[in-house]
Amino acid sequence: MQTSADLQKKIDELERLIIELQDALQREQKDNSLKSQFIGTAAHEFRTPLTTILNSADFLGMVGRSCDEEKYREHITKIQRAVNYLAEFSEDVLTISKFESSNSFVKPVRFLIDEFCQNLIEEISDTQDKSHRIAFVFSGATTALYHDKHLLQHIILNLLENSIKYSLQKTPIELYATVTSTHLELSVKDQGRGILEEDKQRLFEPFERGSNNYDTMGTGLGLSIVKKSVDILNGTINVKSELNVGTMVIVTIPLLQNTARQ
Ligand SMILES: Nc1ncnc2c1ncn2[C@@H]1O[C@H](COP(=O)(O)OP(=O)(O)O)[C@@H](O)[C@H]1O
Ligand SMILES: [Mg+2]
Repeated sequence: MQTSADLQKKIDELERLIIELQDALQREQKDNSLKSQFIGTAAHEFRTPLTTILNSADFLGMVGRSCDEEKYREHITKIQRAVNYLAEFSEDVLTISKFESSNSFVKPVRFLIDEFCQNLIEEISDTQDKSHRIAFVFSGATTALYHDKHLLQHIILNLLENSIKYSLQKTPIELYATVTSTHLELSVKDQGRGILEEDKQRLFEPFERGSNNYDTMGTGLGLSIVKKSVDILNGTINVKSELNVGTMVIVTIPLLQNTARQ
């Protein structure tokens, strides 16, 4: 259960994101129709959670703490979930709108891929209360890479988040990083609910969610962020999934010319 200080922090963060988002949307509203369609859907997606927050806040405002504890908690939880959702949603929309802006070119730096992956696993495990044990497996001649860490981070975090969200607690998740002489291959494997064959292509479009997905919250933007990042890096994505057995997403990205070889 989150404390009221946690909730206040989330609300402050949300306010900051909404201001940033409004600026981004205003800048892009002038652009083409695909973008305005995206903006239209994004604006629409804001309404339901905002209404939830308003209704629950109104209720709490009216009855105060005089209502029974269970009802009180129920409304606080509703507000917390809606605020968390909106924070995640604003962050995802901002990420996509940044991709759409002109500066979405590759910005490579030198780093160690094994260290980088381990840090991301640690980061995500902390935020998800260590609900899953995520194993990391590296193979290749060198861990030293020259690539765009920011885009790779979007790919890895969104894939890991999905594996965590769509598989039962404590089931294993594996992240593989393989460096060949020409490519970096990143794979995330889980033993979760799987993806329906007919859903596979559609899920990379913004706001699309799986039809076997009725009990989880989500923005439907994670895989489109992965797809856009992979496209910018000239890579490919392959999804292998079996219903109620598990999913493996394999991303293959060409190395950049001056990747350090050891
Ligand atoms: N590892 C996975 N296992 C099962 N389903 C998945 C997995 N990854 C993605 N999906 C399906 O793809 C959909 C789209 O994913 P995403 O774009 O990240 O949106 P979100 O997770 O917010 O719903 C999800 O709603 C889910 O149905
Ligand atoms: Mg997701």
